[in-house]
Amino acid sequence: MNSVKFLIHTYGCQMNVRDSEAVEALLVRAGHVRVEREEDAELVVVNSCTVRQKAEEKAVGKAGNLIAAGKIVGLMGCAVKRLGPDVFKRIPKLHFAVGPRAFWMIPRIVGEGRYPVLETGDDMVPQGMDAHAETGRGGTFAAVQSYVTVLLGCDNRCSYCIVPDVRGHEYSRPAEDVVAEVRCLVERGVKEVCLLGQSVLRYGVRNQAWEDGWRGEAFPRLLRALDGIDGLERIRFTSAHPKGCTDELLAVYRDSRKVCRHLHLPVQSGSDRILAAMGRRYTRAEYLDAVRRLRALDPEFAVTTDVIVGYPGETEADFEETRSLMEEAGFDNSFVFKYSPRPGTRSAALPDDVPTSEKERRNQVLLADQEVRGQRRNERLVGTVREVMVEGPSKRNESRWSGRDGGNRIVVWDRDGGERVGDLVKVRITAAHPQTLIGELA
Ligand code: 5AD
Ligand code: SF4
Repeated sequence: MNSVKFLIHTYGCQMNVRDSEAVEALLVRAGHVRVEREEDAELVVVNSCTVRQKAEEKAVGKAGNLIAAGKIVGLMGCAVKRLGPDVFKRIPKLHFAVGPRAFWMIPRIVGEGRYPVLETGDDMVPQGMDAHAETGRGGTFAAVQSYVTVLLGCDNRCSYCIVPDVRGHEYSRPAEDVVAEVRCLVERGVKEVCLLGQSVLRYGVRNQAWEDGWRGEAFPRLLRALDGIDGLERIRFTSAHPKGCTDELLAVYRDSRKVCRHLHLPVQSGSDRILAAMGRRYTRAEYLDAVRRLRALDPEFAVTTDVIVGYPGETEADFEETRSLMEEAGFDNSFVFKYSPRPGTRSAALPDDVPTSEKERRNQVLLADQEVRGQRRNERLVGTVREVMVEGPSKRNESRWSGRDGGNRIVVWDRDGGERVGDLVKVRITAAHPQTLIGELA
């Protein structure tokens, strides 16, 4: 079989980043050669997202351009599953298309070289995850941080969200496999893992995660098991739902030095009326209670969130509820999205009645609020010493290091010489910006 020069472009979330890494490693193992520059690639795989229409258009547009440039082009990921056979109408001459749970089939498809091929892939969970287990970072990619997918799919069924349709039902990987994968990563030099799941605290709920038939909460137990791995310094996970913020989980945060005190807890709205319409299964008060319990553990516990503006029927009063919730929660960072109707979701049947200009205005208001709040939250840390993992030279200024504290806050300091990537160092914070902390080695 011929060796092919290839490149992967990744859109969307961390889940996609991890799947792209697996595909890359599998292609390299099959004898193909990864190249850096697009002009050197014969094959380009585009890993797509479809969570909002714009996200899908970006990936689809990119694939179309690459075909026009004469490449062999494959589309993988969430947009493939949404489009199904129509993918070849949207992208004429596309060579292959592979859904999110069929990524592991790409090396075979490329090896056979008979196009076009469509594999949407419904129930092919175990094979896919073997590929993950065998292809962690550190080996193929010298890195100190790695994503580890622990929970596939999502069973939450929020009214606006297409993810359950494209990523399928929840499937928790066996805990023993996850632990083995993390051990393997640590042997290759990884110091920090981020466990991935659309709603990761539902790990072990739909299917049994622990072989011994243990009936307690599966995710906190997984965290405790990983905490015991020598050489692993930090454990993160994303994303979470307030229902998963149990006493068990809080106890792990309290007991473990390695589990970082940061939680990405998407709220989506601060209005009880909109939360109910979205099918989020919590109220504003319940959400704020979860935040309060995290901060009671540690006032510097970092809580970040996602918000949707312009959901069908969202009034000015609803929007103001979101604003005030964000202030009450004191989010350390937030990501704001303009509502985008996704075909086949429940909310797509409702009129998309908030005008684009108004969605944009609400978006800008929340971003401006977050700038002020981020600055205020970060200023509290001036004068304190934070434990920071060295990630690499600062992109803005090569004479400085950049890293993150446990709260996922970016910290920048002057290079001293002694630090190496992956070290945990103590940095005294000297100045604060809304998104960055400046410091000096303590
Ligand atoms: N429109 C806008 N934003 C959405 N998100 C999910 N679905 C939609 C949609 N239809 C946002 C949510 C989620 C983030 C990943 O994307 O805020 O947390
Ligand atoms: Fe995008 Fe959601 Fe798919 Fe991630 S899981 S790539 S956010 S559609």
